[in-house]
Amino acid sequence: MMKFVCQITKEYGVATMVDMNCIMIDGSGMCGGCRLTVDGKMKFTCVDGPEFDGHLVDFDEAIARANIYEAQEQKVFERRHHYCNLQAMADAEEAAQKKEEK
Ligand code: FES
Repeated sequence: MMKFVCQITKEYGVATMVDMNCIMIDGSGMCGGCRLTVDGKMKFTCVDGPEFDGHLVDFDEAIARANIYEAQEQKVFERRHHYCNLQAMADAEEAAQKKEEK
């Protein structure tokens, strides 16, 4: 959305600052996890930002980098909904106890 807002504000000559929310690893400017291209120059969100001139940010690159770990994130998301075998055993035990109580 920021990309398109910046395209519109650029058209109307409205200065636009953006707050980039990149993947950050060490926050020191050394790992490169938060790297962006701004006005053709390499910048690190953690030390050079996070605010940048929105008209100069390469949003296509930033979006592509933000989606780099999409497959891994999907796997983690799927595992989060995994029904733990220990929980299944505990639920079965609880159900058996309730059945005995009746
Ligand atoms: S978080 Fe590592 S360079 Fe910015």
